[in-house]
Amino acid sequence: MPHLDPRDRLIVALDLPTVAEAEAMVERIGDAATFYKVGMELTYGGGLDLVRRLTAAGKKVFLDLKLHDIPTTVEKATAQVAGLGATFLTVHAFPQTMKAAVKGKGTSDLRILAVTVMTSYDDADLAEAGYAFNVRDLVARRALQARDARVDGLVLSPEEVGEMRRLLGPDMALVTPGIRPAGAGHGDQKRVTTPADAVRAGADHLVVGRPITQAADPRAAAEAVVREIASA
Ligand code: C5P
Repeated sequence: MPHLDPRDRLIVALDLPTVAEAEAMVERIGDAATFYKVGMELTYGGGLDLVRRLTAAGKKVFLDLKLHDIPTTVEKATAQVAGLGATFLTVHAFPQTMKAAVKGKGTSDLRILAVTVMTSYDDADLAEAGYAFNVRDLVARRALQARDARVDGLVLSPEEVGEMRRLLGPDMALVTPGIRPAGAGHGDQKRVTTPADAVRAGADHLVVGRPITQAADPRAAAEAVVREIASA
């Protein structure tokens, strides 16, 4: 990975129900953050125009749509996303889907991130869904398939980052949610790590939502995370 400014390593998750609330949050955070994640909720609530406005205003956007469909559909959908100016787009880590997304981004600056195994799945859930692999082995298998498909990076839980960095080497972007600054509430996240520990384990970008968006002072909370990234 090229050297990244600590501020560009923080991705603030705009998990807010309306575009108006999301825009107000971006305004409050100001220049303390440069990178925002727009997920399915906000996208289906009219967020694609927000993506265009954010990128036009010089912010970076991680569009977390977790695409998975037949290759032609994934390729064409990815090409549309490339036209929005987003920096990251997620797809599920199925070989056909990943190859189609890489084809669809063409020569644009869009970078494809693969979601290996959803963290809501445990070994029993995989067995129920018909998989012969446990979570750990399936994550590793799909990570290598992602690299072979020339995907740009992976979204991983903090506890997988160190092992995947060792497995994949330095080139793929590793992006992790589940970040809680020391002293912050965990919310519904069970397995969390601090910003400094995630960076030390090899994460390039940290996705942080509620510790910033629900803070009394979101700007100060974002600045504190960036300071912690810089210190690691
Ligand atoms: O508010 P919080 O910091 O927990 O938000 C984390 C963000 O990362 C949310 O948008 C959530 O959907 C996303 N995410 C996650 N865990 C995963 C995958 C995505 O928390 N395994």
